[in-house]
Amino acid sequence: MLSHQPSSSFQVPSIEIQGTETPPGSPALTTSFSTETNHGSSSAISNTDNTTTTLSPKTSVTAAAASPKTRPRTFSLSHLVTKTRRAYSVSSAYPPKILPSLALPPKSQDITWDQYLAATGELDKKPPPSFNLSPAQRRNSVAATARRYEDFEQKIEEAPLAVLVSTYLNYLVLILFGHLRDILGKCFKRKEYAHLRMNEGYAPLVSDFDSFYTRRMYVRIRDCWNRPITGVPTRKTMVLERESKDFNKTFKLTGRKIECINFASYNYLGFAQSTGPCADAVEKSVGAYGMSTAGTRTEAGTSDLHLYMERKVAEFVGKEDAICVSMGFATNSTTIPSLVGKGCLIISDELNHSSIVFGARLSGASIRVFKHNNMMDLRQLLTEVISQGQPRTHRPWKKILVIVEGLYSMEGSIVNLPEIIKMKHEFKFYLYVDEAHSIGALGENGGGVCDFYGISPKYVDILMGTFTKSFGAAGGYIAADKAVLDHLRLTNHAFLYAETMSIPVVQQIITSLSIIKGEDGTKDGRLRIQKLADNARYFAKGLRDLGFIVYGDEGSPVVPLLLFNPAKISAFSREALKRGIAICVVGYPATPIISSRARFCVSASHTRADLDDALEKISEIGDLLLLKFKPPKSKVI
Ligand SMILES: Cc1ncc(COP(=O)(O)O)c(C=O)c1O
Repeated sequence: MLSHQPSSSFQVPSIEIQGTETPPGSPALTTSFSTETNHGSSSAISNTDNTTTTLSPKTSVTAAAASPKTRPRTFSLSHLVTKTRRAYSVSSAYPPKILPSLALPPKSQDITWDQYLAATGELDKKPPPSFNLSPAQRRNSVAATARRYEDFEQKIEEAPLAVLVSTYLNYLVLILFGHLRDILGKCFKRKEYAHLRMNEGYAPLVSDFDSFYTRRMYVRIRDCWNRPITGVPTRKTMVLERESKDFNKTFKLTGRKIECINFASYNYLGFAQSTGPCADAVEKSVGAYGMSTAGTRTEAGTSDLHLYMERKVAEFVGKEDAICVSMGFATNSTTIPSLVGKGCLIISDELNHSSIVFGARLSGASIRVFKHNNMMDLRQLLTEVISQGQPRTHRPWKKILVIVEGLYSMEGSIVNLPEIIKMKHEFKFYLYVDEAHSIGALGENGGGVCDFYGISPKYVDILMGTFTKSFGAAGGYIAADKAVLDHLRLTNHAFLYAETMSIPVVQQIITSLSIIKGEDGTKDGRLRIQKLADNARYFAKGLRDLGFIVYGDEGSPVVPLLLFNPAKISAFSREALKRGIAICVVGYPATPIISSRARFCVSASHTRADLDDALEKISEIGDLLLLKFKPPKSKVI
């Protein structure tokens, strides 16, 4: 079980800031604390500005992180305009200014782990084997450490102001017309609108305000979502054409099937297959075990296959133990309440998945949110919450759990794990990383974000992931120390009460995992991982070169292309379908209102020809919808 020591015993000494300039009019940082740390070391880490904040006597933080200069509080029109223009800027895809080429520094200049070990006071310990970083891991770690989060919002290319203004105007017109239609409808079509009005003393069950967005915006373009498909969602998929004769209230299949290049499935490693070793193994194990164990894990529902799978998962992610649950969403939403409760604090990235948000709310713990992947904001929040303690009583928190995702599926951004782990050792919080999209898809061995950065998984307390994406299966896992999992086996509701994972799913996980690890004696797994990385880089670069604004970190298999204007959400989706490209389009409330996007999920199963074909067609759509905001570097590929 997690112990209570971190936040309650975390005590921060008084802070001295050296070399920081406070801009005129900004309040000076006067926070002071009056206690002592458990594990602080006396090292001072100077940041790229050469401004050092010294936490005397034992720990230190970068001044940039705490400086009020980096978080302007002024309320001026120009600030508002700038903020609005950058409100959508969440990616850290672009190389930081100070290391434009992301070139590898010589080993002696490796700032990451030396600083890291110094901050943790573990300098005298031998680095674990995973500190022998590969060039790619070293490059990722160095790039992450070099990210300057005061520049965070400027790293993304800005859309022209006219695009942003026209986007807001579009929403304004939609909202005005929507309300006008509601008012007229309630007056003249009383029967049709009865469910939105007071009815014989009953308040409307569905408030017209709550459902406004669904009724007046989403329904108009509903044909772009929930499209039925048939067959296996591999590199190509068959979309079943539909038509609506009542403005998208109902749909009818036309009978036509459209073969599309599939960018809509999370089939990162291409294991969603109906043939091949996984399918063969599944067939065999269904013959041996049947479809289901017909029970919960604690009531005769655990087979040797389940135990084997959990052992393999724990080995793969580098943790002592693991449990698997039949649904990814439930893995988060039932594990978080088992770990934290009243008196505890959850610190969550603002763009965390709804399963995390749901689990955090269920837990009863206090919740604070930091800006997406913004280490400056996280550090400031940690300083505040630890110094203030619990609301009203100011007692120390029982424990603090920081929850992040490895790879954010709407943004394509990769968590800045090296920086978070540095902070973890400084502030003493527990770290929970949801690897739903990163496990299998990131890192040279497909081992997720720890593998991507070359960080030992022992520095992450809870590793969560799902099998729905890279493994072509279903369900989720929690991997951690044995003591934590012994606790979860008794308290996690999805593990205790939900149906056990079905046998075909378990076998699919076991076989795909063994291929990824190369235990099948082939290089298939390694090739898939490499191909995914190559495809992801090639496709994102292709779109950027064509002049599109694309979010996402380098190497992310999720490639979001910015559409901005709500009318372009549907137009892009429909034009793509016409040209045989299946994609997901995303708009508010899944994204900020200004940054609607088309999301491409690249797979190892895509061939270069698929990607080139798609880029050519997307280029055509971009010209048609005026989506190329930069001068193209290359003509049609
Ligand atoms: C970050 C994250 N966590 C959890 C889940 C839930 O996983 P599942 O779809 O397997 O239930 C998802 C789903 O996409 C996700 O993106």
